[in-house]
Amino acid sequence: MDKLIIEGPVKLNGEVEISRAKNAYLPILAAVLLNDKPIHLKNLPELRDIKTMIKLLSNLGVEVTTNGNVTTFNAKNLNSHEATYDLVKTMRASIFTLGPLLTRLKKAKVSLPGGCAIGTRPIDLHLSNLEKLGAKINLEAGYVEATCEGGLEGNILALAFPSVGATENLMMAAVFANGKTIIENAAKEPEIDDLANFLNAMGAKITGIGTSSIIVEGVDELHEVEYEAIGDRIEAATYIMAGLMTQSELKVSKFNPHHLDFVIEILKDMGAKFEVGEDYVKTLPCELTAAKIDTAPFPGFPTDAQAQMIALMTQAKGVSIVAEHIFENRFMHVPELNRLGAKISLQGNTAVIEGGTPLKAAPVMCTDLRASAALVLAALCAEGKTTIDRVYHLERGYEKLAEKLSKLDVKIEKVNS
Ligand code: UD1
Repeated sequence: MDKLIIEGPVKLNGEVEISRAKNAYLPILAAVLLNDKPIHLKNLPELRDIKTMIKLLSNLGVEVTTNGNVTTFNAKNLNSHEATYDLVKTMRASIFTLGPLLTRLKKAKVSLPGGCAIGTRPIDLHLSNLEKLGAKINLEAGYVEATCEGGLEGNILALAFPSVGATENLMMAAVFANGKTIIENAAKEPEIDDLANFLNAMGAKITGIGTSSIIVEGVDELHEVEYEAIGDRIEAATYIMAGLMTQSELKVSKFNPHHLDFVIEILKDMGAKFEVGEDYVKTLPCELTAAKIDTAPFPGFPTDAQAQMIALMTQAKGVSIVAEHIFENRFMHVPELNRLGAKISLQGNTAVIEGGTPLKAAPVMCTDLRASAALVLAALCAEGKTTIDRVYHLERGYEKLAEKLSKLDVKIEKVNS
């Protein structure tokens, strides 16, 4: 298993370009299954989850060709309606194939994704609302089997919680449903807008984009399209926090800072200094003070930036408090950060961080994607060489992390153990 060795403390220098968003491209890749015409996607990030989704598409009969930074998908001749356990178990986002397969082929069989390190993560909202669109659903031998003989029928769907994945799956399923589907209490994350824009770019009829009431008018066919997803706001937030923690002047570019409005406001309240441009944020050296945050659906503070924020709070003077409201088991970075000298205690879904603590290098272990990012941030501030084990978690979501950091003057080495 690969390890990262980072020597701290460091100052970051220069500019880091943000990759296209994994969480936008995963549902967009699943939506490839809707279209029997070619789809050209630009700058797919080189990430394990993206490769897994492409493998899943290939297994279903999608032809994939690459030319420079453009990957072309042709789902004209699908030869299977089944997403098997061997791939689904490695990536929950495989469940995104359920809506598109069902509405295109009138049947779909997708392995149940099961739990993951950060919680049980059920898919009840996906399934109960697909049933409201007329799907017949059976759970058997670890698989969801869905059929809709005469096609799906538009309906009014009210989500009990604004689930990102359920909103995306239902939006895709509704593309070919008869009549109008309204998704109430829809999630409003920027990646959902991006999926809707992509679907519209190939001929879908979706309105209410960016609101909690998304309207999908069913269409009969889609056309060829070229598309590039938005910049990854979570990768951007991670590098911005890295810049602030290390008192660096760091330009984080090629993403939309409005996707981080809430995070930027919180950081400003903590004393952070930035220059904010149209597609970049530049951090400036500053003294940080404590804050209290609650994770929430967009536009609130993203759960995917919670671990990185806790790492930053170890360097902010005073006592910070972070409450996690989206996932029940998302504090696995806390014991690892404490190994580096952080003073963080946990009470239920709340972390209390005694800030302004000097960190010291130690061997630590990645447990999930964002927890791993928090360890990298802490390692940048810790005195000495921190060894971070199990970096495959990082490779699920941070494109060329070691390369990007080393360009910013970080002494970072990847070793195979
Ligand atoms: C997506 C993101 C993930 C992010 C999360 C919340 C992708 C590929 N992943 O995950 O990075 O952390 O949004 O912003 O885009 N829930 C149910 N029943 C359901 C669906 C969800 O109870 O049918 C619960 C989940 O267990 C969780 C909460 O709702 O506690 C949020 O989940 P959801 O918004 O669906 O997240 P994902 O789409 O899984």
